[in-house]
Amino acid sequence: MSRKILVLNGSPRLNGNTAALIEEFTRGAEAGGNTVVRFDLDRMSIHGCKGCLGGGRNPDSPCVQKDDMEKIYPEYRSADILVFASPMYYWGFSGQLKCVLDRLFAVTESDPNWVTPHKQTILLMASEGSGRENEEPVLHYYKALLGFLDWEDLGTLIAGGVLKLGDIAGHPELKKAFELGESIR
Ligand SMILES: Cc1cc2nc3c(=O)[nH]c(=O)nc-3n(C[C@H](O)[C@H](O)[C@H](O)COP(=O)(O)O)c2cc1C
Repeated sequence: MSRKILVLNGSPRLNGNTAALIEEFTRGAEAGGNTVVRFDLDRMSIHGCKGCLGGGRNPDSPCVQKDDMEKIYPEYRSADILVFASPMYYWGFSGQLKCVLDRLFAVTESDPNWVTPHKQTILLMASEGSGRENEEPVLHYYKALLGFLDWEDLGTLIAGGVLKLGDIAGHPELKKAFELGESIR
């Protein structure tokens, strides 16, 4: 079965380490017959959530703020799988990605009971540090997020030990990213 995958790329470096993971993942996912839609969030105009709790009145344009989230909302609604792709910034997602995640709450507000649409999710991340201690905070956050939103994890992949552009070349996580994409049915 072909699935629709929405990749939210939170890295500002479009030829960086996160991008390399996304490219391998996408190659695998497309080889498996899936459809991949990708947004490079740093190149879009997306503001932080205002916390007004006033969204959801118009399901087609659920947020009170009108910016490039308008392009993301319809793709989010129709996606089966969300890919959170980000460099690790201070043991979390980049700000670009976090803003989008917060703004997706406007779609939840469109439901009278604030039910978040069910999704399967994947985490692709690049980080300078490596090892369990470095990964633990963001994995804890990711797990808490999925638990709260009732989303289902399909896999997490953190390529550690990569700082500068190109550091990821030959990294074993690239092959795993391809295989993770290919495994999606
Ligand atoms: C603001 C900032 C914060 C960072 N915080 C962390 C961190 O907490 N842990 C870590 O291992 N690497 C950290 N890094 C390193 C990046 O995760 C690493 O360089 C990564 O490969 C960048 O991915 P990119 O090529 O997609 O931009 C940080 C880098 C920046 C610029």
